[in-house]
Amino acid sequence: MKAIVVTDKAAGTAGVKLVERPEPQAAINDVVVQIHASGFTGDELTWPSTWTDRVGRDRTPSIPGHELAGVVTALGYGTTGLSIGQRVFGLTDWYRDGTLAEYVAVEARNLTPLPGDVDFTVGAALVMPGLTAWQGLFDHGRLHAGQSVLVHGAAGVVGSMASQLAREAGAYVIGTGRAGGRQTALDFGAQEFVDLDNDTLEDVGEVDLVFDVIGGDIAKRSAGVIRAGGTLVTVTGPNEARPSGGLTIDFVVVPDLAQLSELVQRVRVGRLRTNIGNVAALDDAVAAFNRTARIKGKTIIRVHPEDSGLPSAHEGAIHAPKESLDVEHDYADRFLSHA
Ligand SMILES: NC(=O)c1ccc[n+]([C@@H]2O[C@H](COP(=O)([O-])OP(=O)(O)OC[C@H]3O[C@@H](n4cnc5c(N)ncnc54)[C@H](OP(=O)(O)O)[C@@H]3O)[C@@H](O)[C@H]2O)c1
Repeated sequence: MKAIVVTDKAAGTAGVKLVERPEPQAAINDVVVQIHASGFTGDELTWPSTWTDRVGRDRTPSIPGHELAGVVTALGYGTTGLSIGQRVFGLTDWYRDGTLAEYVAVEARNLTPLPGDVDFTVGAALVMPGLTAWQGLFDHGRLHAGQSVLVHGAAGVVGSMASQLAREAGAYVIGTGRAGGRQTALDFGAQEFVDLDNDTLEDVGEVDLVFDVIGGDIAKRSAGVIRAGGTLVTVTGPNEARPSGGLTIDFVVVPDLAQLSELVQRVRVGRLRTNIGNVAALDDAVAAFNRTARIKGKTIIRVHPEDSGLPSAHEGAIHAPKESLDVEHDYADRFLSHA
């Protein structure tokens, strides 16, 4: 099969290559999935799990990418709950070969059915940002209706998802980012926007929760705008800043099938949309990893671009148009026209 691999940590993104690899085998309780759409995170090459297994042994050449939508093609010994031919989507183990390939072996417990009217591209784009936003807001941030939340990076992939979910839950949403992200943040549900380069963060007053995707000094200063007893949730690593009488939680997203089902249901009824900025073929994935220009929104690799995954282009189907391959555009606008 074709796969993207990395072998040399020091080489960074310049070491990303498209090669031929043997197809993976399904271990106990695994399935093999033929990948139709794959997502990756730009800083994956800095994660220890990209280079070593759980006991620290070198596992290169390794295949990056941990978000997928595709079709089950094989079941491992003892696997239950999924069947061959089933459309699925989900998150794969950080320490195993990932999804920038034609096939992946993944634990069945990490996957959930992808409804027949949701395109593989949309499914793959929902997994990581959707779960991260959900877990940050509701599992860790305990957000509920009537509260206020400051979402950093609100025009970005995770922030745009967090803004929509928080708003839908009845919270008041203040987005932040660079000046150029203002309109995108508002379009994705933020009710106010703080331009972090030109406005003063501290002027927002007090909020119940800060959802941080930027880290550093921005995360530190954020503790000061949180109401006593409130929460600072961050996905950028440990942070010493603490809100007065409250908690700081840094976390890494985990697979959660019930949450994925909730998220995709919202997409189907038009209450949630993905923030996709670029769709490229697997043959162009090396270039997608190595981009010099900054892409706004999620990059999705269409491993099987000829197949939208939809039974037919029936009305209401949530899909990506074929002409979107390799074309950079404001995907969110296109998605809206289909939702
Ligand atoms: N722990 C976890 O489980 C987990 C899960 C998912 C993601 N993450 C991490 O979360 C981070 C964000 O991911 P993402 O996919 O949402 O990235 P993204 O799409 O690039 O979003 C980040 C947003 O923040 C803005 N931003 C960044 N630095 C800024 C600054 N100094 N001042 C103002 N605005 C700034 C960006 O603006 P520009 O586009 O203009 O730079 C962008 O709008 C990444 O570091 C990722 O690795 C962690």
